[in-house]
Amino acid sequence: MIKLGVNIDHIATLRQARKENFPSIIEAAAICERSGADSITVHLREDRRHIQDEDVYNLKNSLKTKLNLEMAPNEEIVKIALDAKPDFVCIVPEKRQELTTEGGLNVKNQKSKLLNVVARLRKAGIIVSMFIDADVEQVFACSDIKADAVELHTGRYAKFFRENGINSVEFKEEMRRIFEASQVAIKEGLILNAGHGLDYDNVRQICKVSGMNEFNIGFSIIARSVFTGLGMAVKNIKKLINGN
Ligand code: PXP
Repeated sequence: MIKLGVNIDHIATLRQARKENFPSIIEAAAICERSGADSITVHLREDRRHIQDEDVYNLKNSLKTKLNLEMAPNEEIVKIALDAKPDFVCIVPEKRQELTTEGGLNVKNQKSKLLNVVARLRKAGIIVSMFIDADVEQVFACSDIKADAVELHTGRYAKFFRENGINSVEFKEEMRRIFEASQVAIKEGLILNAGHGLDYDNVRQICKVSGMNEFNIGFSIIARSVFTGLGMAVKNIKKLINGN
């Protein structure tokens, strides 16, 4: 069974729009957990546009499942992670102006810096994942720096699914890259996760990739929850993932 990590950043986006203390991300996380989430993901961005430092600590203290912290490999945030001790960290690239994480991390080009970050986080007992494009060379680089896991960036997969369709050359080629990168990740002993842009329409296709441990899904669930409520939005995507 593939696990579901629910990214609740956009509950905090709503809260920060008014700088109020609601909607509560603690309450949101609890609803997600009761509705089948296997973990809760938040991204502590350098600009703190949604999740705030205290959210990370409060979630760590209140969750019944696992906390996955997405973060750039930046010293200030690394120190917070070492202090808050989430169960998992996913290292992501981060640009100030982007609306969301665009593209995977180039692990190959910054191995020595990342080797150090990964070693420090792992020493604190945190399971460390790298958010990378479906690219075999990046998977090998993750193995070289002793990461525990990879999260394959499914942004291109989602874009081609929506714009070109599943029979298009573009979509088929991206699927091929995902299959190939996944096989290598498993051979290298890495935990295999995927995420970004996954939604109620496209999630069934990616379930066909064998060896998947967990999907991290945020925007589509939070957007759907406006109409169905958060619990139902989580239950429905979980049903799709588990093939019902
Ligand atoms: N995984 C990672 C590493 C991400 O950065 C994000 C976006 O914050 C997601 C998964 C979830 O993407 P989406 O919100 O498009 O479902």
